[in-house]
Amino acid sequence: MAPRALSGAISAPHCDAMSLTALPSRTLSGTICVPGDKSISHRALIFGTLAVGKTEITGLLEGEDVLATAEIMRALGAKVERLGPGHWTVEGVGVGGLKEPETALDFGNSGTGARLIMGLVAGHPITATFIGDASLSKRPMGRVITPLTEMGAHFHARSGGRMPLTLTGAATPLPITYPLPVASAQVKSAILLAGLNAPGQTTVIEPHATRDHTERMLRAFGAEVSVEEGPKGVTIVRITGQAELHPSQVIVPADPSSAAFPVVAALTTPGSDITVTGIMMNPHRVGLYTTLMEMGADIEVMNQRDESGEPVADLRVRASQLKGIEVPLDRTPSMIDEYPVLAVAAAHAEGKTIMRGAAELRVKESDRVAATVAGLRVNGLHVEEFDDGMAVTGTAGRVPGGGHVATHMDHRIAMSFIVMGFGAEKPVTIDEGHMIATSFPDFVPLMRRLGASLESGTNS
Ligand code: S3P
Repeated sequence: MAPRALSGAISAPHCDAMSLTALPSRTLSGTICVPGDKSISHRALIFGTLAVGKTEITGLLEGEDVLATAEIMRALGAKVERLGPGHWTVEGVGVGGLKEPETALDFGNSGTGARLIMGLVAGHPITATFIGDASLSKRPMGRVITPLTEMGAHFHARSGGRMPLTLTGAATPLPITYPLPVASAQVKSAILLAGLNAPGQTTVIEPHATRDHTERMLRAFGAEVSVEEGPKGVTIVRITGQAELHPSQVIVPADPSSAAFPVVAALTTPGSDITVTGIMMNPHRVGLYTTLMEMGADIEVMNQRDESGEPVADLRVRASQLKGIEVPLDRTPSMIDEYPVLAVAAAHAEGKTIMRGAAELRVKESDRVAATVAGLRVNGLHVEEFDDGMAVTGTAGRVPGGGHVATHMDHRIAMSFIVMGFGAEKPVTIDEGHMIATSFPDFVPLMRRLGASLESGTNS
């Protein structure tokens, strides 16, 4: 599925890559709201499909990844309607009620959509083919194929457990107990989704707790889910299967992973003072903010409240001289998507920032360790690369910039290096900006509203 052009002032034909150049900016100022959380948006559509009745969603992220999930829920039998911006309804088919899709399910760039929906299909006696773009077709699916096969699903995948793949689910999946070999909320969620249609209890044991949106939201939809701490700090999640889900009202809070970009832009562009409102502060998602504050970031957490079962706050962020730190290893799952933009913050800091224990970064939308290290080096930074992370030596002020960055079609690499350009001495260009629409369609107009300067071009 070709990503749509960024909304706002920028558009370019699909056949041409759209480069973007971030210019050294004056101060950034103003108040913005970033789009809805991607993880919660996917789950709202999926769980709505499993409920009997009409789920209403407000604040849904209308990025390419989530729109692909909406289309796939339609193909699996749900009635999904858009009533207005971010305002959607889903009339579900009930657990066990999915329809077999007539054509292949196209996930575009979305690993979350693909892995969660493999869990969903695995618990139904239907066959579906999963396809996606070049990046998604390289990503490892063995991590979900293994437990879902144990539960009775059958997969025909490309070598190395890659997509495209065809999956036939089980009429009565087996409840299993599964210790996760990698800390992954996607794998945990896939197993829990298949477990929803299994007789008895399905158990997932997490060595390091990951984002718990599936657990929180499934409870709100009426599922029986328990979470307890086990020996040696493991987290044990149990779901009771053959559940009947009831529809729910979902208010999607703003995505802390998207807010990370304007927040780091404000911290690293001298004189800036911005406020980002309504950001979800789920403890399993705020590792970046904790880390930035330890580095000396001036971030004021204001108006803390609870919305739709998630803690939410407004953040006032002022430009700050950061100091390098060693990021604690156990913080990795709570900031797994934020390492590229943290590396940009680290490039401005005084001293070295060490980020390790994040080998998972190599199997995201791109190899984010390699892409981040290369992007920093081409912009004049000194970086050491490790198998599981990197160490960035900061400049204690504006970074040199002037580089052309290869994004490898990765939205977070694209936004991270645009942010770097605002606080650099010379402009920073990224080779491709279309992918930003997968998670943050209004990124460019929002950054411009804060006062940032961005130019677009085409690379044929
Ligand atoms: C997500 C989990 C994370 C994260 C991804 C969204 C989710 O992936 O990187 O962007 O919504 O469950 P892993 O589960 O592979 O760590």
